[in-house]
Amino acid sequence: MEKNRSIINILDLSVDEVAHLVKTANDIEKNPEKYQERCAHKKLATLFYEPSTRTRLSFEAAMLELGGQTLGFAGAQNSSASKGESVADTIEVVSNYADIIAMRHPKEGAPVVAAAHTHVPFINAGDGGHFHPTQTLADILTIERTKETLSGLTIGLCGDLKFGRTVHSLIDAMLRYPDNKYILISPNELRLPEYELDKLRDAGASFEETKSLEDAIPKLDILYMTRVQKERFFNEEDYLRLKDTYVLTPEKLLTAKADMAILHPLPRVNEISVAVDKDPRAKYFYQTLCGKQMRMALILYLLGLD
Ligand code: CP
Repeated sequence: MEKNRSIINILDLSVDEVAHLVKTANDIEKNPEKYQERCAHKKLATLFYEPSTRTRLSFEAAMLELGGQTLGFAGAQNSSASKGESVADTIEVVSNYADIIAMRHPKEGAPVVAAAHTHVPFINAGDGGHFHPTQTLADILTIERTKETLSGLTIGLCGDLKFGRTVHSLIDAMLRYPDNKYILISPNELRLPEYELDKLRDAGASFEETKSLEDAIPKLDILYMTRVQKERFFNEEDYLRLKDTYVLTPEKLLTAKADMAILHPLPRVNEISVAVDKDPRAKYFYQTLCGKQMRMALILYLLGLD
């Protein structure tokens, strides 16, 4: 393992490496005591320039459960970024304080700058509307555990497919497994960007675009709901018009397969009714546990401690 390997995009990990992380996460679940001192005397820095609940806390919980320690900031206003310090300088400095760094930044491409300046392993914890590789690792573990395969699935992606970085990363990841089909459910304004559609075309993947969640639901093995990304809209009027386009309710699930898995990267706003939470097909809270276990596996792997 390179001393300062960076994970910016899910494709920075090979299919074999993802399989290895899934195996480690499954072992962590079965034998947590084996891992509880594995990162003793190691420090994880979490540099979050943008709000987060799950990603930051699950990274920190992951390191604590591995016996390591954490440092960092939640919000650029609490760091010297507020005085104008660059990402490059911040990473140069934090590389002297921590053994591994996870960073979330609102600007697409900021992780590329960080990766060029880090002296320790670096993980992109989400950059703008671009990539969110560790969310994809959480999604992959959830799918693998609930469907017992990553291939031959019909995957519905619903909501904000334009700005939803988790959707882009998930498509990139699932295109590496054979025979998956994609149903892209969105209003016109929030369609998947052309560059992601090109990836589906280039891979020869079967996909269709629709505005109707109701039409798509009966065909799906996985329904991946997403929030309309308010923070990426240029005007509030458009956001207000689009935000409740899709609301998943128990009634809409009546036509779904009995074993369809409902995923959502969270946070949820209105797009899944709380009444759906009781449905055994709802996997979105379980997904957050999978996220912590995959982040544990990734930290171990990048530090060469697994
Ligand atoms: N899924 C996710 O990235 O959630 P947070 O924004 O709370 O980290």
